[in-house]
Amino acid sequence: MKAMAVKLMHAVQYNSYGGGPSGLKHVEIPIPTPKKDEVLLKVEAASINPVDWKLQKGVGRPFYPRNLPHTPACDVAGEVVEVGQGVQNFKVGDEVVAALTLATGGAFAEYATAKECFTATRPPEVSAAEAAGLPVAGLTAHQCLTEAAGVKLDGTGPQKNILITAASGGVGHYAVQLAKLGNTHVTATCGARNIDFVKGLGADEVLDYKTPEGAALSSPSGRKYDAVIHCATAIPWSTFKPNLSPNGKVIDISPSLSNWLTMAVNKLTFSKKQLVQLMVNPKAENLDYLVKLVKEGKLKTVIDSRHPLSKAEDAWVKSIDGHATGKIIVEP
Ligand SMILES: NC(=O)c1ccc[n+]([C@@H]2O[C@H](COP(=O)([O-])OP(=O)(O)OC[C@H]3O[C@@H](n4cnc5c(N)ncnc54)[C@H](OP(=O)(O)O)[C@@H]3O)[C@@H](O)[C@H]2O)c1
Repeated sequence: MKAMAVKLMHAVQYNSYGGGPSGLKHVEIPIPTPKKDEVLLKVEAASINPVDWKLQKGVGRPFYPRNLPHTPACDVAGEVVEVGQGVQNFKVGDEVVAALTLATGGAFAEYATAKECFTATRPPEVSAAEAAGLPVAGLTAHQCLTEAAGVKLDGTGPQKNILITAASGGVGHYAVQLAKLGNTHVTATCGARNIDFVKGLGADEVLDYKTPEGAALSSPSGRKYDAVIHCATAIPWSTFKPNLSPNGKVIDISPSLSNWLTMAVNKLTFSKKQLVQLMVNPKAENLDYLVKLVKEGKLKTVIDSRHPLSKAEDAWVKSIDGHATGKIIVEP
């Protein structure tokens, strides 16, 4: 009997921890088969998040990634080319955007499987690259503002003062735009070269993080922050505390030991000012909401750079450098 020919695809993988860009290998592997609750996508664009190279460093071991070799990246936009038996909302030919799980990744490839529950339709007005920026960074910004900071994005809530650190980055640039939809006053921090860019996203006041005022996070108009969407790293609680309103909250998205200690101390001292940690919990309905905002021209994905999958290493280096303005896109 003749064996069925297995269809192969180009993918980028690492098979051990560490190594940075030189740990990435270009391989030919079988096109994955969608499980019952999954769609198979022909990838049109992927985007990188810092978590992708942090996992390569080993920060999530032994849980993330689940297996080695691992095909990184969780943000993907593409065309549905096959559906699992249980899939109800998508059919072959649909254009979609999806969040892949940290455990499996898979976006650095020509084809990827995505769970239906983390997949949203992409209308023709939203390009694959614009959509691919949304899953991790857009959903994190959305969750920080709506769930953690209690901002109503339709603008019907009370006006809050929000500080967004690293407002020029992937999460930050979405957070500024969403916060303004929510009728908040936004103070933002970024590097000097991005001040006009961040103002253009809608921020009311912008601080250069390398100046003394920027390092102190103090609002030029003297406001105290009801919530801080903290997208930068390594800013101590002592810097935030004097800038917070009496019940102000710092929403930290990059867990660290010092943050855990601060949270413990705050709890023990019944502090009204809080530090909370947030991990994104992707949901298709929220992704759908963000895609619609992009379609309506109310939210944009700013693209830092686009790289072919054949040069995925360049995109990896760009993200590790930590100076992206908006999202880094990889295209097969
Ligand atoms: N918890 C979660 O679920 C979750 C989800 C997404 C991301 N994250 C984490 O959130 C962080 C941000 O992610 P990202 O994708 O937005 O990163 P990113 O796109 O790589 O951020 C790069 C930007 O940050 C700016 N920046 C760096 N340090 C800064 C500082 N001290 N003050 C102001 N701006 C600063 C840089 O500006 P310059 O070039 O001018 O220096 C650059 O524009 C990462 O640690 C990531 O792992 C967590």
